[in-house]
Amino acid sequence: MRATVLSRYGGPERLAVAELPRPVPGSGQILVRVAASAVNPVDIEVRSGRAAARVSHGFPMVLGWDLAGTVAQCGADARRFATGDRVVAMSAQTATGIGTHAEYVALDERLAACAPRTGDLRRAAALPLAGLTADQALELLDPAPGDTLLVTGAVGAVGGFAVQLAAARGLAVQALVRPGDEEAARALGARRVFTARAAIPAASADCLFDTAGEPSALAAVRDGGRAVSVVPTRPLVAARGIDVRMWFVEQDGGRLTRLSRLVDDGVLTLRVAEVFSLATVGEAHRLLAAGGTRGKLLIDPRLGN
Ligand SMILES: NC(=O)c1ccc[n+]([C@@H]2O[C@H](COP(=O)([O-])OP(=O)(O)OC[C@H]3O[C@@H](n4cnc5c(N)ncnc54)[C@H](OP(=O)(O)O)[C@@H]3O)[C@@H](O)[C@H]2O)c1
Repeated sequence: MRATVLSRYGGPERLAVAELPRPVPGSGQILVRVAASAVNPVDIEVRSGRAAARVSHGFPMVLGWDLAGTVAQCGADARRFATGDRVVAMSAQTATGIGTHAEYVALDERLAACAPRTGDLRRAAALPLAGLTADQALELLDPAPGDTLLVTGAVGAVGGFAVQLAAARGLAVQALVRPGDEEAARALGARRVFTARAAIPAASADCLFDTAGEPSALAAVRDGGRAVSVVPTRPLVAARGIDVRMWFVEQDGGRLTRLSRLVDDGVLTLRVAEVFSLATVGEAHRLLAAGGTRGKLLIDPRLGN
């Protein structure tokens, strides 16, 4: 099978298509024929070597955490899915060594969920990592209905899902976005939208979800409030009795099942910017690193060069 392989840390040019053996699903695993995967900021961190300390396996490496596809084969004792089922999954590639930028991926069936029934299966690859991160971070924040939540980077992949999930839970969402993204943030469910951190009234939010790496946003949280960041390079610094946490996404097929249903229910929207081939994953890395993309960058292994 074809896969995009990293043989050495470095720039996007290090990513190259290679022929690898098709994985064989082990006990409790499913083999998925990939319809699409997605590029996430973590892929750039891994490729460049900045995340080397967190990578548990050697070269050559297949990157990618998200996948949407069709079950091609079930391993022994894998009973949750049948051949032909449409699934989504997140593989914590740095920990498991199982990357998704490939034609086929074998992984534990407990990491997978039925894909949303509605729409192009490829678009579902926008959901797993960003959706799980947003949902798990919100659970950690544990806001009460009616609380005010500030989301930074609110039209980003993680921030966008967080705004939608929070609005659906009856929270009053404040959004910090780049100038020009105000309407997009409102469309996701934000009630108040700011394009400059300094414009957000001090202590106006009960809690903060920082996806933009904007630690100064803590000033917008009331004394004794709660805050979660997912950007370890720009952590929040606890102050004024605010409960401050850092969150790292965890694999969770059960939670992904619920998120997939929320897509079908129209609570979550899948935003896709562009689709790349396995041979052009490096271009997707360049685009994501440059900033300004709105919607996920997907990889379709069936596309030619
Ligand atoms: N800890 C974890 O488990 C975990 C999981 C997922 C993601 N993450 C991290 O979370 C962050 C967001 O990930 P993502 O996939 O959502 O990225 P993304 O889609 O690029 O979203 C980030 C958004 O924040 C915006 N932004 C950045 N700085 C801003 C600022 N000062 N004010 C307003 N908006 C700002 C970006 O705008 P521009 O594009 O214009 O810069 C973009 O819209 C990344 O740092 C990623 O590494 C961590």
